[in-house]
Amino acid sequence: MFEDLIRAWDGEEVAIHYDHPSGAWMFVCIHSTKRGPADGGTRMRVYDTPAEGLADAMRLSEGMTLKMAAADIPFGGAKAVIAVSKLPEGDERRRLLLSYADLAASFGGNFHTAPDMNTTSADMDVIAERHRYVFCRSIGRGGSGDPGPFTARGVFHGIRASAARVFGSADLAGTSVLVQGVGSVGARLADQLAEAGARVLVADIDAERARLLAQRIGAEVVPPETAIELECDIYAPCGMGATLNAQSIPRLRCRIVAGSANNQLAESEDADALGRAGILYAPDYVINAGGVIGSWGTESLGWDADTIEARLAGIGNSLTEIYERAEAERSSTNAAAERLARARLGAA
Ligand code: PHE
Repeated sequence: MFEDLIRAWDGEEVAIHYDHPSGAWMFVCIHSTKRGPADGGTRMRVYDTPAEGLADAMRLSEGMTLKMAAADIPFGGAKAVIAVSKLPEGDERRRLLLSYADLAASFGGNFHTAPDMNTTSADMDVIAERHRYVFCRSIGRGGSGDPGPFTARGVFHGIRASAARVFGSADLAGTSVLVQGVGSVGARLADQLAEAGARVLVADIDAERARLLAQRIGAEVVPPETAIELECDIYAPCGMGATLNAQSIPRLRCRIVAGSANNQLAESEDADALGRAGILYAPDYVINAGGVIGSWGTESLGWDADTIEARLAGIGNSLTEIYERAEAERSSTNAAAERLARARLGAA
């Protein structure tokens, strides 16, 4: 299985490590260093098979290459996956992270990492004990902290730009938005949407987490299994990838898909299916670039809060440009975004 995946992948390098004590598999996928050192989060997750973890890391790393190019940030794309049988805590978590840090450090300055699903700034502090190139360490340790708020802010701007395109106004008051997955990004996004006067629906596999958030911001909880079928103006996937696929797209009853999850489309053809269904799709790696913009801006460029806010608002402008191009080129929004990103990769 690993052989087939690696042979079919167009990235530069894969490192695989098996952690005997825990049975965890670690994958570091360096997709491209064309535009600079490869940068990508470290995801920790339970997968049915190790090969699924490798496949996830490979696809996610390509998304990072496109994200960096689309946001015009001088990094290439990578991703790491730690495929565990159960999310570790305490000493065992620390041991596993240090072992992973040795693998990450073997790439030297060619691989920079940051948090992703199920990893935090505190985890980055541990990895940084053995690997120099770590973004988003805790603020107390000199890092820029959790990138979630930056990502959520960028998605909020992207949703406003998408609403302007479809409904003629960026004002979200009275608009219904389904936020699927209310973790580090989704919860903050839901917060901002509620503040903007939207009618917010939240779904999460962790029912308690959804209930507490809904109570706090005045949102409605909907069951995660059927959330996607709900009638709403905007669907914001903010958790797992591949929620947009041949089975789910015909069931969607929204006008816009705009959320923070990476790899929202199961296949690139799904973008055409969304277009045919009259649903505007905000390409994931464009709308969710706020985390990389905020952490890189803060840590490498010393940007202040106003500069970052202006760059996050720029995500809305990029989407507007992509929507216009897609219309002019009669292509899907995803194809238009990819052409833009690939032009920058070719030019680099
Ligand atoms: N999870 C983040 C993403 O997918 C990873 C990241 C954050 C990478 C910040 C670099 C800097 O974009």
